Amino acid sequence: MAVFDKFAEKYDEGHVNAVKASGFKPDYFHEYKLKEIFAYLKLIGWAEKKLTILNFGCGTGNSEKYIKQYLPNSSICSTDVSEECIRVAIKANQVLSDVTFRYYDGKNIPFENNFDIIFIFNVFHHILRKNQTEILQMLSGKLKNNGLLFMFELNPINPLTLWVAINNDYKFDKNAKLLSPIYAYKILKNTGFKIYKIKYTIFFPNFLSLFLPLEKYLSWLPLGAHYYYIVGK
Ligand SMILES: C[S@@+](CC[C@H](N)C(=O)[O-])C[C@H]1O[C@@H](n2cnc3c(N)ncnc32)[C@H](O)[C@@H]1O
Repeated sequence: MAVFDKFAEKYDEGHVNAVKASGFKPDYFHEYKLKEIFAYLKLIGWAEKKLTILNFGCGTGNSEKYIKQYLPNSSICSTDVSEECIRVAIKANQVLSDVTFRYYDGKNIPFENNFDIIFIFNVFHHILRKNQTEILQMLSGKLKNNGLLFMFELNPINPLTLWVAINNDYKFDKNAKLLSPIYAYKILKNTGFKIYKIKYTIFFPNFLSLFLPLEKYLSWLPLGAHYYYIVGK
């Protein structure tokens, strides 16, 4: 049984509590990732393309509606080691078209095709360190030669993030261990990925939302609550 099987039904509730201190609802965090990704894809002329996307570690399927909103021409394949999460995700996303959720057995991605884009949203801190490079290699094998992989993670350098992780992820998953941006760089590099970009995000809580427009100027500052890498082969 996967760790998240027990929490699938309550996952969203737990997430609401975990991010309460920020003053935002979980959807804020799900949507901002797509806003970031869309901005980058627009820059490189990919936003309107019919992209095949793998959402690795999709959880209960909270990102798919935003993937479809920002990249409506995309075809989405989402997978997770938690069968329960997949069950919840299928039920919650019935209205979306060209989105397929499938259980991942921890070895083989259950989709035959290779992908233009792979998303990994807050998954790697739940994967044992000794398995991370092997999983990245497997994902690299599922990425097309000119494809892009976006890896978002929680930044342990940010005290609020650490507090949230301790009060949520660390409580029910004894294997959870946040990845520092330097550590994430190393495993991506060791896998053979070319690193195109790192960006730090989420600097201000809701009560300081006046300053949110400044966040885009701070993406170089390693103090954001999240960070993400854009890499390719
Ligand atoms: C914090 S949740 C994030 C879910 C989703 N990506 C999101 O942003 O809402 C972490 C997810 O990673 C999944 N996970 C953990 N280990 C995994 C593995 N080895 N392969 C695929 N998914 C995994 C868990 O089942 C869980 O659904």
